[in-house]
Amino acid sequence: MKPVTCTRDARGVLTVGGVPLDELAERFGTPLYVMDVATIRERLAAWREALGDAGRVYYAGKAFLCRAMAELVRAAGVGLDVVSGGELTTALLAGVPPADIVLHGNVKTRAELELAVDAGVGRIVVDSLEELPLLDELGRRAGRRVAVLLRLTPGIEAHTHEFIRTGQFDSKFGFATLGGAAEEAVQAALECSGLYLAGLHAHIGSQILDVSPFAANAEALMQFARRQYDRWGWWPEEIDIGGGLGVSYEPGDDPPTPAAVVRAARERMAEWVPPGRAVPILSVEPGRSVAADAGVTLYRIGVKKRVPGGRTYVAVDGGMGDNIRPALYQARYTAEPVGPPRPEREVVTVAGRYCESGDLLLRDADLPRLEPGELLAVFTTGAYTYAMASTYNRVPRPAVVAVDRGDARIWVERETWADLARYDRALGSP
Ligand code: LLP
Repeated sequence: MKPVTCTRDARGVLTVGGVPLDELAERFGTPLYVMDVATIRERLAAWREALGDAGRVYYAGKAFLCRAMAELVRAAGVGLDVVSGGELTTALLAGVPPADIVLHGNVKTRAELELAVDAGVGRIVVDSLEELPLLDELGRRAGRRVAVLLRLTPGIEAHTHEFIRTGQFDSKFGFATLGGAAEEAVQAALECSGLYLAGLHAHIGSQILDVSPFAANAEALMQFARRQYDRWGWWPEEIDIGGGLGVSYEPGDDPPTPAAVVRAARERMAEWVPPGRAVPILSVEPGRSVAADAGVTLYRIGVKKRVPGGRTYVAVDGGMGDNIRPALYQARYTAEPVGPPRPEREVVTVAGRYCESGDLLLRDADLPRLEPGELLAVFTTGAYTYAMASTYNRVPRPAVVAVDRGDARIWVERETWADLARYDRALGSP
């Protein structure tokens, strides 16, 4: 979907956050990631309201994170899910209270775990048995119990692309609830005097457009928890169902609301609670559903090529370096010219500038007729674009500019050619 503030001005030019996109391109150059602050605020508020006081929201920074984004998340009263020392450092620099941070990762280095324990992050999600003794040692050294969740793979089938599906039993993530691995992890965690086993976690996939996998996930975690209660007397304080809510990339994608997801998950929880025990706090870790719709990527069209007997290519000044998703997942996007609407249309393939035939942003898209020199806006690019950007071909990464009520501010500066050579050493240097 487009950002909530997206409209056209009196000239017919696309505007976001009250700022015409042609002005943004003029001021900050292209390609440019534009983030609409109103959309982000609205999505964070929707998740918070859906969870209410008996639940927690941790925005998944992997979808889109920079210091200003972490500050915005903090200001909305939402916590942060981080997955590396880099994300954690960004969160801490932004002043996110450590207690509101949850650390993930299937391979966390000792340095990352030390940083997390020293900072006092609220939850560390344990992904392997190898992590337990290390964390236990850090907790005992710090003289307190480190609060952990165990990441489980409950075998839930989420209907999404294979590469972004994570809940199935045969997964590199977490402990399978089938075959005893998860049970063994609970026992091992309970034996660690440096740890406090606060709850269970499962993230089952991404870009999910249906409530039923979320409900099934919540139920699978509760069912597993109940088995552990009956066996060890341990009961979770928190059940974290991860992220995964999809967005509308194309007409026909119809995601449920956060409220519907939470309702469906909660409906399945109460029946598993043992007598005298409380329903665990429900936590969620939305990434895409917070950031994706807020983002628009602006490109300048450089070239238009009609291949006789083939396609018509419109090639832009960015591509797989700033948005790898079409090449990696066959992801589909919608786009519009920034300039005024026109009656003529044309089926074109929007190509990127990188040296790969697969660097195509939109395939066979029916678009208003475009000419070289014009600006093109690609929608729904707020999640997993900047976050996954590369400097392939030594093309610097674009700036991120945030717009809000007519104001535009740089959140991340544009890289320069010189930046890319900054870490290089000359041949023979020490
Ligand atoms: N929590 C955990 C433990 C996760 O692994 C993820 C995403 C999330 C939360 C947030 O999920 P979301 O709400 O954004 O779906 N690069 C892929 C998506 C990978 C998602 C990885 N994990 C893409 O561009 O589609």
